[in-house]
Amino acid sequence: CLSTTLPSVPLTRAHTFYFLFLLFHSSHGDVSFSFPEEMQRGSVIGNLAKDLGLEASALSGRKARINADGSGKRYCDLNARSGELIVADRIDREVLCGNKASCILKQEVVLENPLELHRINLHIQDVNDNAPLFKDDLIDLEIRESAVKGARFVIEEAHDADVGQNSVQQYLLKKNDNFVLSVGGNTVELVLDKELDREKESEMNLLLTALDGGSPRRSVVIHVTVLDANDNAPVFSKAVYKASLPENSPPDTIVINVRATDADEGVNGDVTYDFGHVSGNIISVFSISPVTGEIKVTGVTDFEEKASYEMRVEAKDGLGLTSYAKVIIDITDVNDNAPVINLKSLAYPVAENVSPGTEVGIINVQDRDSEKNGQVRCSIEQNVPFKLVPSIKNYYSLVTTEQLDRELVSDYNITISATDEGSPPLSSSKSVLLSVADINDNPPVFEEQSYSAYVSENNKAGCTLCSVSAQDPDWRQNGTVIYSLLPSEVNGASVSSYVSVNGDTGVIHAVRSFDYEHLRSFQVHVMARDNGSPPLSSNVSVSVFISDVNDNSPQILYPSPEVTRHLRKPQFEPNWPPASIRLISLKQTKH
Ligand SMILES: *[C@@H]1O[C@H](CO)[C@@H](O)[C@H](O)[C@H]1NC(C)=O
Ligand SMILES: *[C@@H]1O[C@H](CO)[C@@H](O)[C@H](O)[C@H]1NC(C)=O
Ligand SMILES: *[C@@H]1O[C@H](CO)[C@@H](O)[C@H](O)[C@H]1NC(C)=O
Repeated sequence: CLSTTLPSVPLTRAHTFYFLFLLFHSSHGDVSFSFPEEMQRGSVIGNLAKDLGLEASALSGRKARINADGSGKRYCDLNARSGELIVADRIDREVLCGNKASCILKQEVVLENPLELHRINLHIQDVNDNAPLFKDDLIDLEIRESAVKGARFVIEEAHDADVGQNSVQQYLLKKNDNFVLSVGGNTVELVLDKELDREKESEMNLLLTALDGGSPRRSVVIHVTVLDANDNAPVFSKAVYKASLPENSPPDTIVINVRATDADEGVNGDVTYDFGHVSGNIISVFSISPVTGEIKVTGVTDFEEKASYEMRVEAKDGLGLTSYAKVIIDITDVNDNAPVINLKSLAYPVAENVSPGTEVGIINVQDRDSEKNGQVRCSIEQNVPFKLVPSIKNYYSLVTTEQLDRELVSDYNITISATDEGSPPLSSSKSVLLSVADINDNPPVFEEQSYSAYVSENNKAGCTLCSVSAQDPDWRQNGTVIYSLLPSEVNGASVSSYVSVNGDTGVIHAVRSFDYEHLRSFQVHVMARDNGSPPLSSNVSVSVFISDVNDNSPQILYPSPEVTRHLRKPQFEPNWPPASIRLISLKQTKH
């Protein structure tokens, strides 16, 4: 019996042992061979004859044959001519022994004549014929971005059917930004070294390579999907939004659109808009769409009331992270206010004797609009003796341009119009009623240059001789005419003993009966005076002519009345007395 024990040699390089085999002699007639797995059929394992100390020819003579031990499967054969043991079937260490550290196949060789039984131990050496293997080609990992540094994620390890140095020795993780590898015992873990940010990188591929002792290495791609965490608040595109809006813009006019973006996903990134804390009057004027961030007009904007609105807008994501921005809406002026004319003072009435250029009133014009829309021009378009003189800001003086005359125009209805410079312009007008006060500037004027009155003598005292009339266009007492006689004398007596004048009516009456034979005519002067203070007057002359009436009997002056006493009727001599004498004597005898 041969027996040999050899220290086991580490099989670091499988291929160098492919043709190397060692011979063992068991102390009990066992023979051991050590050889690598996966040798080709027919490959020589060893020379059994030699090992058993027999001639090769003896083997066939003694009908040597191999029996499988127990398992019944025969892995080797005997070459009866050469005495060599050769591979009879595929020997795969991993199939036969799994991951056992040593793999020994037991076979028997039987010899006859005499009967001998030798055990053959086939030490199958591992050859690195298996690469490490991951269960799947791709490993999917889902990691929330909120994972903290140091978090560990177990990766299913790689398997390598080979054993010892030929099994998985090492893992390599291709350099990346976030993960490092931790291998301990049987666990392979990814360790988060730098925190993830889905918004920067939502997925990544890591390359993990498993190496066994030999050269075939195997890699696996670890696909990491970074899951969202609500770690981003919405962000407005601007810190301050500015818009301008014409006043009186109709409801639904879009003012501005605010926009905020949220880098998160899904509900974490759904942004809704609202006003921040704002006073009630803004709510009634503007609205914001929660979905689109569109700010619209809902109420009335009036530049003159409020020229600018400032408000906060809020953007909120699904889980309540908020941010704010400011919105400033400037209202621009529209020419929507007509000028308003105010009469600040007015001389009432205006005396007709004021000199041209006298200020009779003060006008103030207001236009609530701004700039051009509020710049006003004022004018009087009628043909009246007044004009507007611009004074200090928005004030105008109403000034006369000519001498007034109440007796021509006693009342003025002055229309003042004001127009602003907007586009289109707005205008308004105001009527100013102005009365002209009377001044006693007109004397009474007689209708005739002079008057004549004819009266027959022997008139009755008190009879009407004629009437005079004077007109005075002034007002009331300034125009009230009073007639009177201007004192004078007629025939040495006061005129008032001849005639009188009715002060109110201008009717002239005879005060006495006139006698043609005594007074044939006379002249009086009548004054018309108004009641002003001081009064004005004018004079007119009235000539009174007295006509004759046959009121005297003839009287005989010669011869003496005794002569004529005998005569019943005047008896005229044809030639005496001569007619001229008779006429003269008639006149002379008038009483
Ligand atoms: C003054 O004139 C205006 C416009 O012409 C008119 O409407 C108004 O009635 C007038 N006023 C008087 C008192 O006549
Ligand atoms: C008459 O004229 C005077 C000035 O001459 C004036 O003061 C007065 O008010 C006038 N009277 C009336 C009734 O207008
Ligand atoms: C009228 O006559 C009176 C008396 O002679 C005189 O005082 C007055 O001035 C006269 N008036 C006019 C207008 O001539």
